[in-house]
Amino acid sequence: MNEINTVTEAAAKAVKKPAMPDAQTVTEVTHWTDRLFSFRITRPATLRFRSGEFVMIGLMQTDEKTGKEKPLLRAYSIASPSWDDELEFYSIKVQDGPLTSRLQHIQPGDQIIMRPKPVGTLVHDALLPGKRLWFFATGTGIAPFASLLRDPQTYTDYEEIILTHTCREVGELEYGRQLIANIRNDEMLEELIGEGFHEKLRYYPTTTREESPKMGRITDLMRADEVFEDLGVAPLCPQNDRAMVCGNLAFNIELKGMLEEYGLREGANSDPAEYVVEKAFLD
Ligand SMILES: Cc1cc2nc3c(=O)[nH]c(=O)nc-3n(C[C@H](O)[C@H](O)[C@H](O)COP(=O)(O)OP(=O)(O)OC[C@H]3O[C@@H](n4cnc5c(N)ncnc54)[C@H](O)[C@@H]3O)c2cc1C
Ligand SMILES: NC(=O)c1ccc[n+]([C@@H]2O[C@H](COP(=O)([O-])OP(=O)(O)OC[C@H]3O[C@@H](n4cnc5c(N)ncnc54)[C@H](OP(=O)(O)O)[C@@H]3O)[C@@H](O)[C@H]2O)c1
Repeated sequence: MNEINTVTEAAAKAVKKPAMPDAQTVTEVTHWTDRLFSFRITRPATLRFRSGEFVMIGLMQTDEKTGKEKPLLRAYSIASPSWDDELEFYSIKVQDGPLTSRLQHIQPGDQIIMRPKPVGTLVHDALLPGKRLWFFATGTGIAPFASLLRDPQTYTDYEEIILTHTCREVGELEYGRQLIANIRNDEMLEELIGEGFHEKLRYYPTTTREESPKMGRITDLMRADEVFEDLGVAPLCPQNDRAMVCGNLAFNIELKGMLEEYGLREGANSDPAEYVVEKAFLD
């Protein structure tokens, strides 16, 4: 009798527990450093997004006051391109962060929430046609560019694409380094874009707090014209150059000011221009 009651109570609890809304299954997790990891999840068949957009993802948490389960969500750039069967994300681990203190422990087979409403300004539609496209990233700000760099449109729309990625330490560049290496070996992209594809993509990683072949904040390296000398390109101009910026708030503000000085104007989905900016996280 007792056993039957126990089973019945457990079953009742299971029925009362709300199902996770918009659940997707984790398929792969990679830890890059003790502060950074990436993961892949299943993609809902109906989800359409433009490379560079972000969605809200998260986990269920118990409300301390009511004891009820509710979603805890944060904005995340989709790091995979729009044609991919799965969705990839590149994430910070904030040790006392409400979401990432838990999210960093996900394993393949676990479920997470993904709200299927992609939005964002780091999209091709927000830029006017140009010759050279700059992606300026710090830290996890590389995530939307990991999507755009794997999108054939990036290479068909521009003659040259330059990714700059500034991090404190060398290990924090590894996700981007492997991304670029994989793109350069990607037979599908080569077939689609044709000869010269490899020369189109330039990669300019820098560190600020650990020794590496190129050190310094990208903003300082631009002011000193060092980036342009290293890459053998002219400083940015509104006729040729387009830019997408994604990093911490201070970086975004500083670089935005510099881009305006070069003569570029900020664009938006509804009013395309020469550059677009998005925060990599809220400060
Ligand atoms: C448009 C947009 C897109 C985003 N895309 C990503 C993404 O692709 N990958 C990602 O890891 N985060 C991204 N974020 C940040 C993300 O939404 C969360 O802030 C992050 O997951 C931490 O959540 P949390 O609840 O653990 O801590 P939170 O309470 O959200 O943050 C705590 C503190 O941690 C720091 N922090 C938060 N996120 C980062 C970060 N990414 N890098 C360095 N420091 C950070 C900040 O100082 C913040 O105040 C994005 C934010 C915005 C606004
Ligand atoms: N990365 C770590 O090892 C580490 C460890 C523990 C905690 N944290 C904390 O985590 C948070 C985020 O750290 P993060 O390293 O991911 O991101 P971050 O502080 O935004 O730094 C990322 C890169 O951007 C550079 N940068 C910052 N402001 C800039 C500006 N205005 N112009 C140009 N470049 C700029 C930094 O250079 P500078 O180095 O010159 O600032 C660094 O190379 C911080 O609150 C930090 O205290 C970081």
